[in-house]
Amino acid sequence: MTATTRTAVERLAPDRLFIGGEWVDARSGARLATYHPATGELVAEVAEAREEDVDAAVAAARAAFDAGPWPRLDAADRAELLWKLADAIAADADRLARLEVLDTGKPIREAQIDLRETVDAFRYYAGWATKLHGQTIPVRGAVLNYTLREPVGVVGAIIPWNFPLLMAAWKVAPALACGNAVVLKPAEQTPLTALELAALAARVGLPPGVLNVVPGYGETAGAALVRHPGVDKIAFTGSTAVGRQIGQLVAGTDKALTLELGGKAANIIFEDAALDQAVEGIVNGIYFNQGEVCCAGSRLLVQESVVDVVIEKLKDRLATLRVGDPLDKNTDVGAINSRAQLEKIEELVASGVAEGAEIYQPACQLPERGYFFRPTLFTNVAQSHRIAREEIFGPVLSVLTFRTPDEAIEKANNTEYGLSAGIWTEKGSRILEMARRLRAGVVWANTYNKFDPTSPFGGYKESGFGREGGLHGLLAYVRLEDR
Ligand code: NAI
Ligand code: MG
Repeated sequence: MTATTRTAVERLAPDRLFIGGEWVDARSGARLATYHPATGELVAEVAEAREEDVDAAVAAARAAFDAGPWPRLDAADRAELLWKLADAIAADADRLARLEVLDTGKPIREAQIDLRETVDAFRYYAGWATKLHGQTIPVRGAVLNYTLREPVGVVGAIIPWNFPLLMAAWKVAPALACGNAVVLKPAEQTPLTALELAALAARVGLPPGVLNVVPGYGETAGAALVRHPGVDKIAFTGSTAVGRQIGQLVAGTDKALTLELGGKAANIIFEDAALDQAVEGIVNGIYFNQGEVCCAGSRLLVQESVVDVVIEKLKDRLATLRVGDPLDKNTDVGAINSRAQLEKIEELVASGVAEGAEIYQPACQLPERGYFFRPTLFTNVAQSHRIAREEIFGPVLSVLTFRTPDEAIEKANNTEYGLSAGIWTEKGSRILEMARRLRAGVVWANTYNKFDPTSPFGGYKESGFGREGGLHGLLAYVRLEDR
């Protein structure tokens, strides 16, 4: 444990694999290291799962599902246990938030939001355990015909580094509510809170094998989970490239699949919008979590008549953002998660300049160490520019303009992605019309990045398929409705 780590948390997460209710070393003895993105310092080393460890985790999950108590438990008892897990997370929320900051580099204030939403997700899905009703179907003849909503079986959950605990919760909570067993593979950059989740689940009495956690690399542990014949469903959040590969591997097998992939969301400001409120929402929409968000509002479409005033207001607001130590509660923009991600952002920003867009960055002081990037605004952006088309996954906003609602729709939909969009207008009828015509899974109006466990979230087109959250996110973990 390094000095930085020690001042942030009094004790670290468990550092081994969690398989069948036991903490175990990797069969190979391999370890992987995680670093604090804001300083580059070592945070922890944890056991690194490879194929043989994934085999063991799937075997434990299979045994828990095929012969263990969990799927057979009274639904009310499953609900109670999930509620207790939510309470345990809530009781430990401060420490978990700080661990999340150490692994991700996100501001502590935002990690605290993740923790609240994690607790909410477990509580929400705890409530569904007792409400998995089937149907009775009026067939011909004197017979009773009915459907049962049965769990899918063993779920392989693969999650990214931008919201490690929250993305785990979005999969683990509905999967467990339905009575499934889970093998969770956190991202190699951010394994700590997933291990903590396993420890808390064990402490509140989740039976062995129901939740297994195997930190490891995507190409080894992740791919082994995807290929494993003992897995009934893969739930993946991450890049479109890897999602596509997973789709190909799963095609032709009997595995169910849900994919939450990338985005290039448009935030659309009409001239009649409440502009100050809109600018605040735009800033939150792109600079939250350093822009490392699949639904980040990375394209701003502004009606031409107000573009100058909007850009002026945006620049003023950018200059007030505090970039720096993510453990400081006053920080607005923390560190980029990794050197690789920082280099990706730098490369795309350089392409924007080379292709002729105009760059603005506030003159804020950046820390000397760590992977920091200034909040960035591009104007004079053309739809053909890479910064208008590719997911940057960083604090970079590209501004485009439009004249008419039709042109706004045309430009907003001109992308291979379709995860989310935002509309800013005081006209109710326009909101309803735009929401219908935007090819995006989620459309926010006069707000952005609002999440609630009651509401489905997921994408059109290359942003993936299937939904997380709400009833739809639950039914992704039962036969009959799984995909
Ligand atoms: P990634 O898609 O490689 O990683 C996400 C998860 O998938 C991690 O747990 C990783 O270990 C696993 N993984 C990687 N390759 C795998 C494989 N062949 N089989 C099974 N699992 C595999 O994303 P990465 O490389 O971390 O980030 C690259 C870009 O992806 C980002 O710059 C961003 O544009 C996008 N991304 C989107 C996310 C989202 O929330 N939709 C989250 C993370 C990244
Ligand atoms: Mg990758």
